[in-house]
Amino acid sequence: MDKQPIGVFDSGYGGLTVLKEITDKLPQYDYIYLGDNARAPYGPRSFDTVYAYTLQCVRWFFEQGCPLVILACNTASAKALRSIQQNDLPVIDPTKRVLGVIRPTTEIIGQLSHSGQVGILATSGTILSNSYPIEIEKFYPGLQVFQQACPMWVPLIENNEFNEPGADYYVKKYINELLAQSPNIDTILLACTHYPLMLEKIREFTPAGIRIIPQGEIVANSLSNYLDHHPEIADKCSKHGKHSFFTTDSTTDFDNHASLFFGKAVKSTHLSL
Ligand code: DGL
Repeated sequence: MDKQPIGVFDSGYGGLTVLKEITDKLPQYDYIYLGDNARAPYGPRSFDTVYAYTLQCVRWFFEQGCPLVILACNTASAKALRSIQQNDLPVIDPTKRVLGVIRPTTEIIGQLSHSGQVGILATSGTILSNSYPIEIEKFYPGLQVFQQACPMWVPLIENNEFNEPGADYYVKKYINELLAQSPNIDTILLACTHYPLMLEKIREFTPAGIRIIPQGEIVANSLSNYLDHHPEIADKCSKHGKHSFFTTDSTTDFDNHASLFFGKAVKSTHLSL
């Protein structure tokens, strides 16, 4: 059987924080990463647009032979995953799998909070989709969920301005707006794959005692578990420890930014969709 890499998708660079954790946890597999940088950010775009863009990218992964695609983007997971799983996969190829980042996170978030109140920081698209409260309710019906959109954070990160003093205003603003919703929030989920880059800054402006949770490791553990329990999919995934990177925008920009997210130098190939 022809084994092929696992596909990892994001609107831009953010999914690289997830890929980093996945490759640390599962270094034996091959991965193809696609950042749709030419059309990023997805956060402010409509449901229909995010769905159309994401489906187009998922089809491309399938054309490369990927048996499994991870949507390492909350916005795409929130707005496109369900339709792709329910409506498109059965038609395109029912043997393929597409997984997102919301479910693995909502499965465990309730175990992390002692106060029973969690905060979600994400793009406007993810917050407006209400995906987190809906999914969390399924696993932890008593858990109270407070949400805050952070529309300025992805642009600050994508423009490499997040460590500048000007970024502090927006970091403080959104954290304070979230915490103003309840004094008992004890766990904050970074529900955008870009945000781990600002982890130190977010910690700086968050009261001590509040736990801040990035998603990468949670998603990596969940994928490992999934592959253990689905040998029929795991057996289709190639294992040479190879990584390849594609971007729909400039490869020079991608390579310059990507190492910040991935922690290693990256050499990408341009893809016209
Ligand atoms: N990385 C995406 C996420 O996890 C957000 C970036 C964007 O808005 O395109 O939601």
